[in-house]
Amino acid sequence: MLERRRYRSEASHKTAIETGVVRMTDVTEQPAHWLLAEMGKRVLRPGGKELTLELLDALDAGPADDVVEFAPGVGFTAERVLERTPQSYTAIELDRDAAADLERRFDGPNREIVVGNAANTELDDGVADVVYGEAMLTMHPDDGKASIVEEAHRLLRSGGRYGVHELALEPNDLDDETKATIRRDLAAATKVNARPQTSSEWISLLEDAGFDVVWKATAPMHLLRPRRVLDDEGLVGAVRFGVNVLTHPGARRRVRDLRRAFTAHERHMNAIALIAEKP
Ligand SMILES: C[S@@+](CC[C@H](N)C(=O)[O-])C[C@H]1O[C@@H](n2cnc3c(N)ncnc32)[C@H](O)[C@@H]1O
Repeated sequence: MLERRRYRSEASHKTAIETGVVRMTDVTEQPAHWLLAEMGKRVLRPGGKELTLELLDALDAGPADDVVEFAPGVGFTAERVLERTPQSYTAIELDRDAAADLERRFDGPNREIVVGNAANTELDDGVADVVYGEAMLTMHPDDGKASIVEEAHRLLRSGGRYGVHELALEPNDLDDETKATIRRDLAAATKVNARPQTSSEWISLLEDAGFDVVWKATAPMHLLRPRRVLDDEGLVGAVRFGVNVLTHPGARRRVRDLRRAFTAHERHMNAIALIAEKP
């Protein structure tokens, strides 16, 4: 078990540092997803629980499917996918602690949690019917995004489905200067290299890797709006999150900065979910 939790390669460890997946104890520099998770937030993707559930219904993973999840994080989607009893489930997660926690919670036959890099999983070609990942491509540079999407394509059998749920910019013809401003402000607030792109850029990314995009859904980017927090976390979870944030001054400042950045650019951001099929 311990062996599996080591990084599979030096490159994975380097990616973990560059993309900010390594947790920092200093709250002012901590990647936003780990900060929010430590405050009790379980749903860390831009379209919330609802867009995730829509994506899972459309992906329709079932008992005949071998499933690979990229970047399960705190395991919100993993739990829902495992309820569908896929033939096998493999998770590729860069963060050692997250992987160890998932292993404790989801250990079972035909389930494997690997500490590794979704861009280079070291799994064999054509081992999956369904691959998916949420809120993880956005934090990689363009070439990193392409490597991860190509890896999904390599892992899938012909006819297999790849599902993504990411942060999008709109409209499709948004000017480069506004894009750069949004990315800079998001990176400053989230402390990760957040690089969202337009819907048509997300679709091109998948098509360039050889996929056919067969399904699309969007939702507002309301990650920290009270209404969305309540929908995503439930009453008890939302209250716990609120109390934790209010009683940790460092976290309170960070959440305030995140909300400011999200609100400032709200009209140019949304959440996008796509399913792409390998011909
Ligand atoms: C914003 S969280 C999203 C987690 C989860 N998918 C969700 O939506 O709640 C980002 C997660 O992606 C993981 N991650 C980022 N890049 C990765 C990569 N190249 N390979 C594997 N995991 C990655 C991080 O460790 C972290 O758990």
